[in-house]
Amino acid sequence: MIPRRLTRRDFIKLMGMGAGTLTLGACGLLPSASTNPTAVPAIQTSFPPLPDLPLLAVDLTAGRATLPIFQGAETSVLKYQASVREGSGESVQTLSGSYLGPIFRIRQGQQVQVHLNNELPDETIIHWHGLRIPEVMDGHPRHAIAPGQSYDYDFQVINRAGMYWFHPHPHQLTGPQVYYGLAGLFIISDEEEAALGLPSGEYDLPLVIQDRTFDSQNQMVYLANGMMDQMIGFLGNTILVNGAPNASMEVKASAYRLRILNGSNSRIYKLSWQDGTPLTVIATDGGLLEEAVTRDYITLGPGERVELWADFSSRATGSERKLVSLPFSDFNGGMMGGGMMGGGSSLPNGAALDILRLKIGEKVAEAIPLPARLSTIERLNEDDAVNKNNPRSFTLAMQGMIHTLNNRLFEMDAVAQDEIVRLGDLEVWEFFNLEGSGGGMGMGMGMMNMEMPHPMHIHGVQFQILDRQITRGYESAYQELSGGFVNNGWKDTVLVMPGERVKVLVRFENYTGMYLYHCHNLEHEDAGMMRNYRVDG
Ligand code: C2O
Ligand code: CU
Ligand code: CU
Repeated sequence: MIPRRLTRRDFIKLMGMGAGTLTLGACGLLPSASTNPTAVPAIQTSFPPLPDLPLLAVDLTAGRATLPIFQGAETSVLKYQASVREGSGESVQTLSGSYLGPIFRIRQGQQVQVHLNNELPDETIIHWHGLRIPEVMDGHPRHAIAPGQSYDYDFQVINRAGMYWFHPHPHQLTGPQVYYGLAGLFIISDEEEAALGLPSGEYDLPLVIQDRTFDSQNQMVYLANGMMDQMIGFLGNTILVNGAPNASMEVKASAYRLRILNGSNSRIYKLSWQDGTPLTVIATDGGLLEEAVTRDYITLGPGERVELWADFSSRATGSERKLVSLPFSDFNGGMMGGGMMGGGSSLPNGAALDILRLKIGEKVAEAIPLPARLSTIERLNEDDAVNKNNPRSFTLAMQGMIHTLNNRLFEMDAVAQDEIVRLGDLEVWEFFNLEGSGGGMGMGMGMMNMEMPHPMHIHGVQFQILDRQITRGYESAYQELSGGFVNNGWKDTVLVMPGERVKVLVRFENYTGMYLYHCHNLEHEDAGMMRNYRVDG
């Protein structure tokens, strides 16, 4: 039913034909004027307030900074500077010497206030990725603030324990602002998790993986391949962990909780221990699994998180372990970002990469054993969905050179009829990646069609994966990565491979209002692969 895909050669030929005629929102593009929130929507939550938890109030300033990332010249970055106005200083950790952060450490039920100051040259706004919060707190681009302005967040944290994160979300500027350094972690704990006594303190290690390209002056280079980078997504040639290149770290010979975020703009990782030891996964985007699962490798798309249990206690002091990204076949687009079109050099998706070197240090007391049972997950049931036989379906396709959602692009205030859901409803949503099928042809540019995975993200919810199906003819690329999916935990972002249909169960249970769903390849998002959906009461 799906015609043969274009070959690379076809693709390059077509690119030559069409190049130069398309202008997408690049970093220099000025977004349209923003409006401030007017009305606060009815807030509905069944979560009981916990008055014994202290308020956390933080001033967060987004601005420029310079840091010594390499020997020699310092690197200009964008950075959030935090200062705690009220509450415990331990709730906000900074990563010293890094553009990343801060790391919020929050308990479920806590009230959080963040006063965001914009000292950037462009508008900005913060989105709290994965959190269930009211729409005016969610960082929609229509709430972006101009340079010199501020925005006040005030919300109760109702999510379960897990590693969430935050980053800018201004119109067409999310990619560059994240790229130049703006992103932090929002780690929530709850009573269920605390009772497990998982590794904590120095044994609880957040690891943010990103790729960047630096010039000979140690400065970050964004979108050097111009339009190609925008179409494929930015792929850098240097891997950084928590903002550091060639990352290596001393660990004790003990058990660790490694919390990994793929904070890259568009790169997909196929994470593995270099020695082939299986990875032990204890959590996904929305927190702990019911019990640990093992994988030979983990596939992690942009925006996705995974937590690993890593017990080094049987390793010899002085030995090393290496976390790597295994090679996999490039998608059509990857090679195009590889400098073929001129511009800067980059590593294609699927390149073998070293991620992190761990040096095993001294042995400490006894390592905590991995709990057999980690959490209780309420299983959503397809039979309870209001549309169980009729999923709300979103086709990911290409029109001209732009990736679209149901043939639409982002419009600041628009919500289509089929993008409205009802508060309290459980729904089946289906993402179908039709790219490379010929399904998106047309529109002037002609036969542009490439095959790309899209990490699809829904704001304001956590969902469960119901089903994944791969279209015939797409199996080989799929099978190189599908063994690394973890499908049985709470998710807010799911990688939808070329030719794949992913069905998720999602309940819109907390707040009414307008939220976003989009591809978390940030160049795709900035180019319009994003839409509003609305929860009506
Ligand atoms: Cu982390 Cu709308 O994104
Ligand atoms: Cu989000
Ligand atoms: Cu995409």
